Amino acid sequence: MPDAAREHWRDLVERRLPQAARPDWPVHRDHCFARILLDNTCGGPWRESVPAPAWANLTLNGLDAAMGLGEAVLAGRADLGWLNRRSLALRGKLRGSGPVAPSPEGLRDGDLVLRPWQAEDEAALAALSADRDVMRYFPSTHDAQESRAEARSFAHRFRVDGFGPWAVTVAGEGCVGLVGGARVMRVMPFPGGERPGETVELEWRLARPAWGRGLATRAARLALHDLFGRCGIAVVVAFTAADNAPSRRVMERLGMIADGRFEHPALPPGHPLRTHLLYRLTAASFESGRLDA
Ligand SMILES: CC(C)(COP(=O)(O)OP(=O)(O)OC[C@H]1O[C@@H](n2cnc3c(N)ncnc32)[C@H](O)[C@@H]1OP(=O)(O)O)[C@@H](O)C(=O)NCCC(=O)NCCS
Repeated sequence: MPDAAREHWRDLVERRLPQAARPDWPVHRDHCFARILLDNTCGGPWRESVPAPAWANLTLNGLDAAMGLGEAVLAGRADLGWLNRRSLALRGKLRGSGPVAPSPEGLRDGDLVLRPWQAEDEAALAALSADRDVMRYFPSTHDAQESRAEARSFAHRFRVDGFGPWAVTVAGEGCVGLVGGARVMRVMPFPGGERPGETVELEWRLARPAWGRGLATRAARLALHDLFGRCGIAVVVAFTAADNAPSRRVMERLGMIADGRFEHPALPPGHPLRTHLLYRLTAASFESGRLDA
């Protein structure tokens, strides 16, 4: 990792955050700030995603996301108390009821079932996330370790947020991918994205044999009904690389409204996938669309 980024990280967690610590902040020490920023960036106890020391082993992109979260705390755009509780909950150290009603065992539409992640789904997620065609609109494919950490982070999200990307299963085929809402924990350059954790993004990624059968749209409708109902979410966004026509078609079929474009901070300037299109959907328009259908 370039020295400048490492120095920036150390300066943030060892000096600027401890110096800025207010009496009402739940933590004051450098390793506590590091834990909070890294867990929330990794979507789980950070050691599940990256070997220690994180400052040396986290990707530059991951470190950039964690530093953005720290800058948001310093600027008053992120609540350190909430991030600390979320970090502890990701580690299973906070008991009690989650923020919303418990998630159901599954969501069903005929042969299609969305259910929480199980250990046996990790292989299916790893296979589709290692497929270059599936991942052609992502910065890179994922190796087995990244996929394992991602599957675990999905399960953690249900525990701490009450929702997350579901495992999508089809009768006779097993797990064919993921669809569902996820809190955006990275600072993003679109309205609302400057406050990490406040925006909920709808995500989808299916194995190739599942494409072109309308499954993503059907699964997203089930997930949206749950997000807008049980979870009490008022608005969701979706975004994708501008060239990803299949993903945009799903957004349009769901009645999502185009809301401009932005440059994705995970990709460097000039990268062909950097320009992303943003879509939004409110609970009210989803419900009225369902009544009209
Ligand atoms: C995006 C994705 C989830 C869409 O799921 P899906 O269930 O296939 O969606 P649909 O069946 O509704 O098809 C969506 C559109 O893609 C088109 N499509 C499906 N398979 C395609 C393929 N192999 N090549 C080109 N277009 C394809 C469909 O014809 C449809 O377009 P239409 O409405 O004009 O007919 C799926 O293509 C996928 O997993 N892609 C890879 C991962 C990805 O890009 N995720 C989104 C990141 S933001």
